[in-house]
Amino acid sequence: MTANAAVAIAHANIALSKYWGKREGSGNYPAVPSLSVTLAGLATRTRVTFDGAAENDAFTLDGQVAAPAARARVVEMLDRVRRATGETRRARVESSNDFPTASGLASSASGFAALAVAAARAAGLDWDAARLSDLARQSSASAARSLFGGFVELPAGPPMPDGSETLSARPVAPPGHLPLVVFVCVTTEGPKALGSSEGMRKTMAESPFARAWLDEAPRLHARLRGALLASDFLELGELAEASAFAMHASALAAGVVYWTGATIDVLAAVRGLRAAGVRAYATIDAGPHVKVLARHEDAPAIGAALRDCPAVRRVIEARPGEGASLAGGEGGAE
Ligand code: PMV
Repeated sequence: MTANAAVAIAHANIALSKYWGKREGSGNYPAVPSLSVTLAGLATRTRVTFDGAAENDAFTLDGQVAAPAARARVVEMLDRVRRATGETRRARVESSNDFPTASGLASSASGFAALAVAAARAAGLDWDAARLSDLARQSSASAARSLFGGFVELPAGPPMPDGSETLSARPVAPPGHLPLVVFVCVTTEGPKALGSSEGMRKTMAESPFARAWLDEAPRLHARLRGALLASDFLELGELAEASAFAMHASALAAGVVYWTGATIDVLAAVRGLRAAGVRAYATIDAGPHVKVLARHEDAPAIGAALRDCPAVRRVIEARPGEGASLAGGEGGAE
């Protein structure tokens, strides 16, 4: 019998060269390439059960019935899986994060990667990681990268408006390639003000610097990829910071402001460390939190400085980790 339940685990990833902006048309294709590191430590665990007795798809997150908008995105992915298989049953989706969901930390990457793996398997599909990555990308492009461990890139989408092409992330280097520590500095509790899709849309539509970002991002990406492959941490850190600042500069010019005073304070702490000769670099996603990149040997000093920073409420220390996988035995069924 086809398995009708499966459990998967996926980890968050942090982009070193940022994805910001979608190709026009349908299909959720990124307009620029991105490169991320998948993090051990920030995980989502998702169980999908196709149930002949259920009338509707149900989605709980950390034990709570999810908001309608969050459920709608889950249903969209379940519908894609149902279309691919002929599965007609409704599903129960139970997800939990091992980091506080309400903190506003990005959870869509780990969430949609885990959902793609669990839903496909529960529906009896035996797709490889590339195909699952393409499935995850259609819900959240950053989630495509969480299918793989270590350092992962997602190319820009094809320039075709019909959205029919497959686009998957691919691994660039394994987790141990660069001994990196990522300090996730939580600055504000509470969900973010503007979702990333809406922030990107507004940036592309209204920012006078949208074109400059779209031109610059692939160049930064190529240089950062080169620095990674050369294991050049200092160059990688400089370029990761440059990518984040260029992304946020384009967004800011459209009035898309994710930073708070606390964000600026953490950036100042990172600059203070560098002025003292300690190599720390910052990156920021679609929210107020700051992620700080460090080498192993500098991690104790950098971690202590960040924990001392009054703007930082909590520090989560993460390292490069593995890609998404089934949990609970061979079939992922429990
Ligand atoms: O895939 P989304 O919609 O979660 O967008 C991710 C956007 C950033 O986190 C800001 C950058 C990135 O590449 O992850």
